[in-house]
Amino acid sequence: MRALALALVLAGGAAPAAPRGAAPDAPDAPAPADRAGALYGRVVLDGSSRRLGVPAVTFDHWNHRAMYACRVCHVDAGFAMRAGETQISLNTNEDGSHCGACHDGKTLHDGKPVFPACSGWPLPDAGRGCVRCHTGPRAPPARGYEAFRRTMPLDEAESVDWEEAARRRLVRPQGSLDGRPPARASMRLDRDLEIVPAGSWMAKVTFSHRRHVAWNGCELCHPEIFPSTRRGTVKFAMADLAAGRYCGVCHGKVAFPLSSCARCHPGERRTLR
Ligand code: HEC
Ligand code: HEC
Ligand code: HEC
Ligand code: HEC
Ligand code: HEC
Ligand code: HEC
Repeated sequence: MRALALALVLAGGAAPAAPRGAAPDAPDAPAPADRAGALYGRVVLDGSSRRLGVPAVTFDHWNHRAMYACRVCHVDAGFAMRAGETQISLNTNEDGSHCGACHDGKTLHDGKPVFPACSGWPLPDAGRGCVRCHTGPRAPPARGYEAFRRTMPLDEAESVDWEEAARRRLVRPQGSLDGRPPARASMRLDRDLEIVPAGSWMAKVTFSHRRHVAWNGCELCHPEIFPSTRRGTVKFAMADLAAGRYCGVCHGKVAFPLSSCARCHPGERRTLR
């Protein structure tokens, strides 16, 4: 019963909510829909833009994570893992940080220079390519998504199964800005951890360090999200995850959503939605 109630809270409650970016005039609009698709993982960046008369910027995770590991942006390029927390501006981009770490008109990707981010006041215009990022908050999903999705393995929610895509080497996110292996190779940790839900019949959770490290690197989780590496020190429950803590920092925002119960509780035969 308890699990069923939770399933309703986790899956049902979020279903009709508008995806981030579709609710343009409410910066404190509901959390992004707990569903996957082209808008899943979209962040609308509007710390200063509209205040300064410039259209807000949309950033999509799906196309970037196909090319780069999470740590490239969330460690090397200095982006926070909470929407709106990073102080991105025309100046930081122009100085080669934030988006400008790649979007500088020089850094190569697939042999071609990546189009540059902000430069020069005042208004973003199409001629200079500004509107590729300054799309305004209502931008439709990038057209490339459907074509990309068709080449990828899909999960039970019919969205890209990133884990499987990486396993089949259909996506090979690079681990550093310049494509070379990171200076300090990640420490290896291949053990799986079993997290046993306390006082519940719900099947235990298997957490794989090896699989997570491929995307994330240690620094994304330790020490900030999981402060102690001493097993069992942090106790968390589904409610914490649904509130965006622990596993919920990523799952439900960028990694597969919480409604896919069986992917974390593999003993459950199917999702409880
Ligand atoms: C190309 C750069 C880039 C890559 C690669 C990237 N991110 Fe992000 N991510 C961002 C930016 C930019 C933001 C928005 C930061 C802000 O608003 O301050 C963000 C925000 C987030 C958020 C917060 C979203 C929200 O709605 O609050 C999470 C969680 C996140 N990223 C996880 C990940 C994970 C997991 C990966 C790897 C699978 C990843 N990111 C890969 C750039 C990136
Ligand atoms: C780690 C490198 C990296 C970072 C950091 C990065 N990008 Fe990108 N981005 C790319 C590459 C590579 C492409 C695809 C190459 C191209 O189209 O020139 C791309 C494509 C895009 C596109 C697609 C444009 C189109 O018309 O198809 C948008 C929009 C975009 N990035 C916005 C952003 C924003 C906004 C930020 C900062 C919040 C950012 N990116 C940070 C590497 C990066
Ligand atoms: C690669 C993506 C990208 C491109 C291309 C881009 N910008 Fe930006 N720009 C951003 C981001 C991200 C911000 C910060 C948005 C926010 O939080 O309000 C920003 C902010 C700004 C601001 C707000 C002032 C400030 O410092 O916060 C101005 C003005 C601006 N850009 C002008 C331009 C102009 C002009 C161009 C074209 C020459 C351009 N931008 C192209 C990503 C981009
Ligand atoms: C991203 C991984 C993940 C997903 C997806 C997930 N869970 Fe969990 N679940 C956990 C973790 C981690 C715990 C905590 C284990 C512990 O420390 O006791 C947990 C605990 C639980 C518990 C034990 C009681 C409680 O409240 O913590 C129940 C019941 C549960 N999950 C049900 C569900 C249901 C139903 C779904 C699908 C709607 C779901 N879970 C999806 C990771 C996940
Ligand atoms: C996606 C998040 C994530 C990443 C990335 C990650 N860890 Fe962990 N780590 C965890 C969680 C969750 C636990 C269990 C915490 C608990 O039970 O309180 C843990 C526990 C540990 C433990 C204790 C394990 C045990 O068997 O007692 C060590 C040591 C550790 N991590 C080291 C690392 C190292 C080294 C890396 C990089 C190679 C890494 N972690 C990457 C989430 C992560
Ligand atoms: C730093 C971000 C982050 C955190 C925190 C995190 N994950 Fe993940 N996890 C990912 C990414 C990225 C993937 C790759 C799949 C995707 O993006 O959908 C993944 C994949 C997984 C998979 C593999 C799914 C499969 O089908 O093979 C499981 C299981 C999982 N996570 C469980 C957990 C649990 C349980 C926790 C908390 C103890 C957790 N994750 C914390 C980012 C994270």
